[in-house]
Amino acid sequence: MTQHLADALPTTTGTTPGWWRDAVIYQVYPRSFADSNGDGMGDLEGIRSRLPYLKELGVDAVWLSPFYASPQADAGYDVADYRAIDPMFGTLHDADAVIREAHDLGLRIIVDLVPNHCSDQHEWFKQALREGPGSRLRERFHFRPGKGENGELPPNDWESIFGGPAWTRVADGEWYLHLFAPEQPDFNWEHPAVQDEFRSILRFWLDLGADGFRVDVAHGLVKAPGLPDLGARDQLKLLGNDVMPFFDQDGVHEIYRSWRLILDEYEGDRVLVAEAWTPTVERTARYVRPDEMHQAFNFQYLTSDWEATALREVIDGSLAAMRPVGAPTTWVLSNHDVTRHATRFANPAGLGTQLREPGDRDLGLRRARAASLLMLALPGSAYVYQGEELGLPDVTDLPDEVRQDPSFFRAAGQDGFRDGCRVPIPWSGTEAPYGFGTGGSWLPQPDSWAELSVEAQTGDPSSTLELYRTALRLRREHPDLGAGESVDWQEAPEGVLVLRRGNFLCTANTTGTAVRLPVTGEVLLSSGDTVEDGVLPADTTVWWQVTAG
Ligand code: NOJ
Repeated sequence: MTQHLADALPTTTGTTPGWWRDAVIYQVYPRSFADSNGDGMGDLEGIRSRLPYLKELGVDAVWLSPFYASPQADAGYDVADYRAIDPMFGTLHDADAVIREAHDLGLRIIVDLVPNHCSDQHEWFKQALREGPGSRLRERFHFRPGKGENGELPPNDWESIFGGPAWTRVADGEWYLHLFAPEQPDFNWEHPAVQDEFRSILRFWLDLGADGFRVDVAHGLVKAPGLPDLGARDQLKLLGNDVMPFFDQDGVHEIYRSWRLILDEYEGDRVLVAEAWTPTVERTARYVRPDEMHQAFNFQYLTSDWEATALREVIDGSLAAMRPVGAPTTWVLSNHDVTRHATRFANPAGLGTQLREPGDRDLGLRRARAASLLMLALPGSAYVYQGEELGLPDVTDLPDEVRQDPSFFRAAGQDGFRDGCRVPIPWSGTEAPYGFGTGGSWLPQPDSWAELSVEAQTGDPSSTLELYRTALRLRREHPDLGAGESVDWQEAPEGVLVLRRGNFLCTANTTGTAVRLPVTGEVLLSSGDTVEDGVLPADTTVWWQVTAG
């Protein structure tokens, strides 16, 4: 099973540019994509059966969120066995089939790797608990005695990203560190066994034909020596501003250098993608230096408002930060951790990425379509989250009793509304589960989703699905789209962005009023109403073919 999958693909290792430099990568959230066995939960066989849809959509690669054996305390980001598939998703054979068939279709597969923490049901953690304080097996994690007279206080003041202390006390009195849920103990990356184990896990999936890894919490693996107090409360609010003793420590880069050497041994231009929430794009660029990872998510772009000045600033800043390290910039608007952009942009700016209000749906969709076309016009690689090609909004009114996001259940949780973007996507039909499967869906789908299904939108030129299909086709055909490392901004009225590359022009009106632009050329695609006499409708992006000069 080792080399056959990679061999089916052209090998670009050692040549530039690699396929990933301008790739459009589609994120599949396995539990919510397609359910083949009627248990209400998506699975690998469901994904396999829908690969032709992704091919037709026109993406280059698929990133699969975790499908490993897991108690699902954090929807699979709590891994109990990195080399096994959770029965709810299928078998290793199914994973092999997904990779093999994707390759046959010319699609690459990126798997999710979760190295910062595992599940409390991982064999190593269970052993560590059994062996007791002082045992060498505890050294693979961060176990510490507590503070206070009887060790009743956590070893330091770190807070979990999901709310509450980042430490949990076990029956024998020691505490262990978990930056996320208590069911997700952090590995101690100083330990050689941890380092060896992950090198072996990388090889396992590379041998199976995976084209790369999206590395979860890539900024978190190394903690500051001595695990010093942070000396502040409400630490989540500080995350975007500062290097923390548990995030973005310099030591993480050594790990990725060693991983890069492994990937480079394999044929087929395999890639590492960092999920690294860092304070600045410049800090993010450190993860994609030539001997480290290939790409990093651009969360500064994801968190930007739909506003021309802010967008231009983050676009310029991102391109400038990546240029010195020679990495492509990436762009992303939605993923499984944030409110979908159709709902973010339906709400007033500045409310963050965890929204509970539906806002103005029509406005949100109009802006989301415009934002997507702008993103797909930019040089570099773009990430599309399943369902955004259907214009799906977040489901903001899920009843509390169906919610599963672990942070929803933690006291003072500030990140607890991620279920809203994880509702299974609609494929066909007029009633839930809309072709997702035959046995319901693990989160309820709204009645209004019949008109948003793949079936309902296919062939309708005004639909969001057809907008994405056309945009991705044009992006493949047009040599200037997605290419290069810079954009050439043209003069534009306030609230409007006009960027040019060769004979391609993109105009984005982020305001609520139509504007007239002196553009002469052929309209290739518009996210909104027809463009007449150079009048660009409100909240609309238009792609143009212009003549040289
Ligand atoms: C980032 C993942 O995207 C998120 O879903 C998860 O909860 C945390 N990392 C912890 O693994």
